[in-house]
Amino acid sequence: MERKSVFVTRRIPRAGLDLLRRAGLELDVFPEDRPPTREELLRGVRGKEGLLCLLTDRVDREVMDAAPGLEVISLYAVGYDKVDLDEATRRGILVTNTPGVLTDATAELAWALLFAAARRIVEADRFFRSGRWTGWGPMQFLGAGISGRTLGVVGAGRIGTAFAGKSRGFGMEILYVHPRANPVLEEELGARRVTLEELLRESDFVSLHVPLTPATRGMIGAGELALMKPSAVLINTARGPVVDEKALVRALKEGRPGAAGLDVYEEEPRPAPGLTDLPNVVCLPHIGSATVETRTRMARMAAENLLAGLEGRVPPDLVNPRALEARK
Ligand code: GLV
Ligand code: GLV
Repeated sequence: MERKSVFVTRRIPRAGLDLLRRAGLELDVFPEDRPPTREELLRGVRGKEGLLCLLTDRVDREVMDAAPGLEVISLYAVGYDKVDLDEATRRGILVTNTPGVLTDATAELAWALLFAAARRIVEADRFFRSGRWTGWGPMQFLGAGISGRTLGVVGAGRIGTAFAGKSRGFGMEILYVHPRANPVLEEELGARRVTLEELLRESDFVSLHVPLTPATRGMIGAGELALMKPSAVLINTARGPVVDEKALVRALKEGRPGAAGLDVYEEEPRPAPGLTDLPNVVCLPHIGSATVETRTRMARMAAENLLAGLEGRVPPDLVNPRALEARK
């Protein structure tokens, strides 16, 4: 078999790259510690059979045109909203992702944000470091309690389910929004499936776990935010464009919701104007899956998916099985 070549758009943990090298693939790894520009991406993918890319890379028709021999697009991510899936499917290009291995890491980060926003952890830490603390005070940094409150989970897939499950121990009432009933949530946690409106009105904490699709883009806008309780906390570890970020800035200024914890943004890496001036928002730089274990597993998985596709096997995490038919 002729040696196939792969463009890797960023250095990923070695476990993945080693696997590809050992399999005899020719690797072209983008050397900089930043995402490739559009030009660099188009140049890099030229003549390649495989593309291993990140959630920061937009993979559209133009990229596929630049590599007419492209067989597999392997994402080092679970979310594949930046890949034109229909176009890839039409061309018989297999698209794969890394589900499962980042479920707990992301669910844990959502909890970290929930605690940080509810108990004003970052604000209090900043205050302490400033040297302005003069000693214990009865009214300092009063936040929101968590135990026994109502948790709203928007999107009860793998991550939403894991997030809800981790509320065991806090005795919370759980509401969720999902296209189908989720038996794990209902039977094990006594969760109730409700409408988005009901969830927003009743929850003390609302955490978003939907993928970005045309149906979820802008799902939380000014009208939805206005339904939330003044004391409520909004958590987003899913995708930025699910929330209208400008509307969120206005809403947080007015204190409805009372606070937010964000790991994702509408136009990464830039926050909406005014967002980072607000004291009642905790902002992280998209680190949901950033644990050593998870990133290593993601690298191995992305490599295995790519390799399977290039060797003519069905990749374990194929997102568009219909592409197999287009290939015949
Ligand atoms: C992270 O956001 C991912 O989609 O993997
Ligand atoms: C993503 O992995 C999800 O299903 O929540």
